[in-house]
Amino acid sequence: MLQQGRLLLLTITKSLIKNKTMQEKHNDDVIGRARVKDTPELEAYYKELETLGAGALWTVANDIEPWEPRTSSVPMLWKYDDLRELVLKSSELVTPEQAGRRVVYLVNDKRKDVSAAVGWLYTGIQVTRPGESTSAHRHKASALRFIMEGKGGYTVVDGNKITFEVNDFVITPNGTWHEHGVAADGKTCIWQDGLDIPLVNALEANDYAVYDGKQPLGVPINYSPLTYGSPGLLPADKVWDKPYSPLFKYSWKNVYPALLEMAKVNEGSPFDGILMHYSNPMTGGHVMQTMGASMQLLRPSEHTKAHKHTGSFVYQCAKGHGYSIIGGKRFDWKERDIFCVPSWVNHEHVNLSNTEDACLFSFNDLPVMNALGLYQEKEYEENNGYQKVE
Ligand SMILES: [Fe+2]
Ligand SMILES: [Fe+2]
Repeated sequence: MLQQGRLLLLTITKSLIKNKTMQEKHNDDVIGRARVKDTPELEAYYKELETLGAGALWTVANDIEPWEPRTSSVPMLWKYDDLRELVLKSSELVTPEQAGRRVVYLVNDKRKDVSAAVGWLYTGIQVTRPGESTSAHRHKASALRFIMEGKGGYTVVDGNKITFEVNDFVITPNGTWHEHGVAADGKTCIWQDGLDIPLVNALEANDYAVYDGKQPLGVPINYSPLTYGSPGLLPADKVWDKPYSPLFKYSWKNVYPALLEMAKVNEGSPFDGILMHYSNPMTGGHVMQTMGASMQLLRPSEHTKAHKHTGSFVYQCAKGHGYSIIGGKRFDWKERDIFCVPSWVNHEHVNLSNTEDACLFSFNDLPVMNALGLYQEKEYEENNGYQKVE
C-alpha cells in the first residue's frame, strides 16, 4: 500500500516536472526572449524611432519569432452536397469566355485576404459543360486538377491534349500554356483546381498571359501519359530537361490498384495508412517545383494516429467515407468532400466503413517546405496518440 502510494507520488512529481519544463520552454519570461517592460522614456524612444521608419526589435520579436510554427488558417471542410448545385449554377450565369475560368473557389475563414483555402494554397471547383472550352493562358503559379465527375473532359498542356476521367490527377506546371474543355458528346465535368497563387503572390512573382486563340496540338492526343505513364519504364529515346514531371496525367485506373498492391505487403504509415506520392518519373521527386500531391488508402475501420507537421494540405475524398480530427475538431467527409489541414495542426484520419476502404487525395506545398529546409513533424504523444474531440 505504502509502496503504491510512493509510486503514485513519484508519477505525479515526474509529470509536474515534465509540465513545468514544457511550460518553461514556451515562457517568454526567460533569458533569450524579449522581456522589456514599458517605461515613459522607452515609449518616447519607440515613437521617435517610428517617425524614422524604424522600431525596436524587442517590441515585436516574441510575436514574429514564435516558439513553434504558427498557422493563421483554420481547419475547414467544404461539403460537396452543399456546393454542387451552386457550382452547376455558375454555368448558367456566366460563360467560360466571360469568366476566364468559371470556378467557385473555396476560401479559408482566416485567409480571405489572400484567397487561400489554407496557408498559401488556393483551391476551387470548376465546371465545364459538353462542347465548352476555355481560352488558353499561362501563369507563374502552378496548377493541378483532380477530376470529380463527368465524361469527355480534356486539358491541353503546351500543345499536348490529355483526356481525363473521374479521380484522375492532372498537372499544369508553371509557365505552361493550358486550356480545358469537354467533348460535345461528353457529360458536364466538374473538377477541383489546386494552385499556389497565394504563395507566388506572397513572393511577388506571379504573372499571367493569355494565348491568342487555341493552342495547336504538337503531339498526338495523350502523348504524355502514353509515353511516360508505365510504372518503372522510361522511353529510351527521349530527353526531358524541364523541372517538372513529363507525366501530365496520373490515372485512377493505375493509382488505385497501386495502393491495393502496396497494402498487400505493407502496414503503411501509422499516421496515414497506405500513402503514395504522385511523382516525377524522371526523378522520383515531387510532380512540380512548388506543389506535391498524394493519394492514400485507409483500410476498413482504420484509425490513424495523430501527428502534426509543417506544410499546408488540401484533401478531397476520392472514395468511401469517414472523418478526420483536425486540431481537436471532428470533420466528417464522404466522396467529393474537400477539407484542409493547416500547418502544424494535429490531425488523424478514420475510415468509418468496416468493409470498404477509403481513399483521400491531397495536395500540398511540401516541395517548398523541403527545398527551403522548413519541414518538421511531431507525433502526438498524449492519450495514446489520439486527440480528444472538443
Ligand atoms: Fe490556369
Ligand atoms: Fe500528416
